[in-house]
Amino acid sequence: MSLSINHKARVLEVPGIRQFANQLVRFPNAVNLTIGQPDFPTPSSVKEAGIRAITNNQTSYSHNAGMLELRQATASFFKDTYNFSYDPETEIVITNGASEGIDSVFRTILEEGDEVIIPAPIYSGYEPIIELCGAKVVYLNTADTGFLPSPERLKAMVTQKTKAILLNYPSNPIGVIIQPELMDELVALLENQDIYIVSDEIYSENTFGSKHCSIASYPQLRDRLFLIHGLSKSHSMTGWRIGFILGPKKLMEHVLNVHLYNSICASLPSQYAGIEALTNCREVPATMNVEYIKRRDFVFERLTSMGLDVVKPNGAFYIFPSIKQFGMPSYEFATRLLHENGVAVVPGSAFTEHGEGYIRISYAYAMPMLEKGMKRLEQFITALGKHPISTKLVSSSSADK
Ligand SMILES: Cc1ncc(COP(=O)(O)O)c(C=O)c1O
Repeated sequence: MSLSINHKARVLEVPGIRQFANQLVRFPNAVNLTIGQPDFPTPSSVKEAGIRAITNNQTSYSHNAGMLELRQATASFFKDTYNFSYDPETEIVITNGASEGIDSVFRTILEEGDEVIIPAPIYSGYEPIIELCGAKVVYLNTADTGFLPSPERLKAMVTQKTKAILLNYPSNPIGVIIQPELMDELVALLENQDIYIVSDEIYSENTFGSKHCSIASYPQLRDRLFLIHGLSKSHSMTGWRIGFILGPKKLMEHVLNVHLYNSICASLPSQYAGIEALTNCREVPATMNVEYIKRRDFVFERLTSMGLDVVKPNGAFYIFPSIKQFGMPSYEFATRLLHENGVAVVPGSAFTEHGEGYIRISYAYAMPMLEKGMKRLEQFITALGKHPISTKLVSSSSADK
C-alpha cells in the first residue's frame, strides 16, 4: 500500500502515562499509582440527572455551544466562586472534556511556525495538539525554581514567534499552585506582551489550604485569555466528557466554529448531568479534598521519611518526588519498581525532559493502596541502597539547569 498518512500524525506516540498503565495487565498484583482520576463515584444526583435525561429522550444534539442552561450554570459557578463574568450566550462553549477545549482553542489560534511557551514539567496532553497545528512548544524550565514559572525567565523567552503561553495551575504532575503575588507578577509581564493566554484550570477545585487564584480574574488580560475547565476532576466525571471554554466574544465565535465542525456538541445526557453538578453539587470537591489532604499528608510523610526530596503539593492529586539520588533515568526506575516490587508510577520523563529525575505518584487512590504502594516503594529503595546501581547518572539532566 503506497498511501501515506499525515506526517504530523505519524510521529505521535502513546503518552508516557498510558505506556505505564498499559503494562499493568501483565502485573495483576501490582499497585497502580499512575492514573489521574478521582476514585470517588460521580455524585448520585448527577448520575440521576443523566439517567433522567436518557429516560426522557433527551438524547439528541444540543446547541453547538451546549445547552444554554448549562452555559448559564457555568457562568454562575465562576461568578459565585471567582467573581468574574462571562456571557453564557456568547462567551462559553461546552466541550467534550477539557481535552477537546484545549484542541479547539489551539486549532483556532495557532498557525504553522507559531510557538507556545509552556512551563514544565507538564502534562503531556498539550504538545501533540500544538504540533498537529504546525506550531512548536518551547518549554520554560521550572524544576529549579520550585516548579513555578520565573517571570524573568518567561520574559527572556518571548520572541516574535511566541503566539501563546499555556498555564496549568494547580499543576499536573507536581500539584503546585500559583499564589496571588506571583500571579500579579506574571500578569504584569503578560499585560505588555501581545500573546494569547490559555489557562487550563481543571484542578482549580482541588486546592488544599488556600483558594485557587485564577488568571481569568485579571480583567487586563481578558481580551486574549481562554480559560479551559471541566467536570472530570472536580466532580469525578472523567467518563461523562464535559468541559468548558470561556473566552472573549470576538474570539469565541471562531472557537465555536472549530468545535462544531469537530464534534457538533457535547453529549446531551452528560450536559444535563453537568447542570446538576454545577448547580446542586458545588460542595462535592471540598468533600473529596478532605480525603486528598489525608492522603497527601500520608504520602508526603512516607516519601520524606524514605529520604526523598519532594515538594509538598497544595493542589490536584499528584506528588512528584526526586529520584536523582539513585542515579538512573526515571523510565528505568519506574520499570524496575514495577517489575521488582510491583508498584506502577509514571516516570518524570513523561512530563518533558524537565521531569527527568522524578517520578509522579497519583494519590487519587484509597489509603490501603497508598499504604501498600509506599511500603513496596520503600522496600525497592532500601534494596537499591544495598546494591547501588552503576548505570548512567542523571547528573547533568536539563532539570538541573
Ligand atoms: C492538566 C490536565 N488538563 C486536561 C486533562 C483532560 O481533562 P478531560 O478529562 O476533561 O479531557 C487532564 C487529564 O488528566 C489534565 O491533567
